[in-house]
Amino acid sequence: MKVTKMVFLVLGMVASAALLANGIGQAKSEQAAEASRKCVIRKQPPKEVIWDKPNKAVFNHAYHVDEVGLECTDCHNRLFTKKIGAALGRKDFNMDSFAKGKYCGACHNGEEAFNAQTECDACHFAPKTRIVFTKPVKAVVFEHKIHVGKAKIKCETCHKKVFIMRKAVFAHLKPVETGSIELKDRYLEKLHKRFCGTCHDSHRAFGFATRCTVCHIGVKGYTLLNKEGKLPEDHQ
Ligand code: HEC
Ligand code: HEC
Ligand code: HEC
Ligand code: HEC
Ligand code: HEC
Ligand code: HEC
Repeated sequence: MKVTKMVFLVLGMVASAALLANGIGQAKSEQAAEASRKCVIRKQPPKEVIWDKPNKAVFNHAYHVDEVGLECTDCHNRLFTKKIGAALGRKDFNMDSFAKGKYCGACHNGEEAFNAQTECDACHFAPKTRIVFTKPVKAVVFEHKIHVGKAKIKCETCHKKVFIMRKAVFAHLKPVETGSIELKDRYLEKLHKRFCGTCHDSHRAFGFATRCTVCHIGVKGYTLLNKEGKLPEDHQ
């Protein structure tokens, strides 16, 4: 990067010298110098680009240019314009289109660079605060720290099939309403098996059918959490 810039500067100086030698007016060469100065300034990309939505993600210019050695033109304006937020403004700046080779996926395809459909945490961030589900029933706790840290589970283990990497997986669920205990049990088993129970099956992790209160902290637990001030806004 530094070397390239030096080369440009030297080339620029040589070019201006040549222009002068050719007897072209002082004003014109100053204009040229001004333009090339602007160009050099504009050439400085931001070290990092961070998108906040729909899912916080980071892109590191310094890494791609200095460490990997990519040229600006490998991305600009073939894949991205030089305007933060431009890609987000387009409807298809998402994981599906990366999988089809667009945007980041032009390189992050498992060949030129690691596949974007794998190491989620290279670009995304796990929430640091405890998630407390409040729908359909109040006060089910989930902590990334335990799962990603202590249990060393990769993001994609959960976020590819079981959960999308978003809020509100359960928001559309209505509390089960049936007088039949049998029907209710069957419904609950299905619900738990489909989500947390994919691991909490008494083999890979403690079973959902045995230790309800490890996840369901109840109204009392919820109030306690609130008092401690540790509860993020209701997670609906
Ligand atoms: C690996 C791809 C890649 C490479 C290589 C790359 N960029 Fe970028 N650049 C991006 C992305 C992604 C954005 C954000 C675009 C968006 O949000 O739509 C961006 C944004 C920018 C912006 C906009 C900053 C702003 O504040 O709006 C500038 C300027 C820029 N790049 C300059 C450069 C320059 C100069 C180089 C070469 C030294 C370079 N980029 C190399 C991917 C790249
Ligand atoms: C022109 C090709 C190209 C594009 C486009 C590109 N990358 Fe990369 N990226 C690379 C290469 C090559 C590497 C280094 C090899 C590897 O890590 O697999 C890399 C590495 C990375 C890393 C690993 C950095 C580290 O610290 O280990 C991250 C994170 C990353 N890219 C994010 C992105 C994001 C986000 C986008 C889209 C906004 C993007 N890249 C677009 C080529 C590209
Ligand atoms: C190479 C970087 C990179 C990797 C790896 C990556 N993502 Fe993304 N992801 C992005 C970028 C960039 C966006 C678009 C901007 C944003 O949402 O902040 C995005 C958007 C998303 C979105 C919202 C848009 C959509 O597609 O629905 C979800 C959900 C998502 N990623 C999930 C994942 C999951 C799950 C993984 C791992 C299997 C993953 N991502 C791996 C860069 C990456
Ligand atoms: C054991 C399963 C599991 C693992 C592993 C996991 N997550 Fe999650 N993640 C969840 C659940 C459950 C939610 C909450 C979904 C909801 O709100 O409906 C979630 C939500 C999220 C959200 C959205 C949070 C919000 O409030 O907007 C992000 C971002 C996220 N996870 C990123 C990650 C990243 C990055 C990793 C890897 C470092 C990771 N997750 C690993 C289960 C997991
Ligand atoms: C591994 C964590 C976990 C365990 C253990 C667990 N649950 Fe759940 N349960 C959840 C999650 C997540 C939801 C959905 C989010 C919510 O309701 O807040 C849920 C929802 C429910 C619901 C509401 C379903 C509806 O649609 O009305 C009931 C009732 C329920 N669980 C009962 C139980 C009972 C009884 C046990 C013990 C036999 C149990 N759960 C064990 C995580 C767990
Ligand atoms: C990909 C597998 C996986 C999924 C999916 C998963 N967990 Fe876990 N969970 C684990 C493992 C492994 C542990 C640590 C070992 C153990 O406690 O049995 C753990 C531990 C926990 C603990 C901590 C128990 C303690 O001792 O403090 C809670 C609470 C918990 N999970 C809740 C949930 C909830 C709620 C969900 C669904 C929203 C969920 N988990 C989804 C694998 C998973």
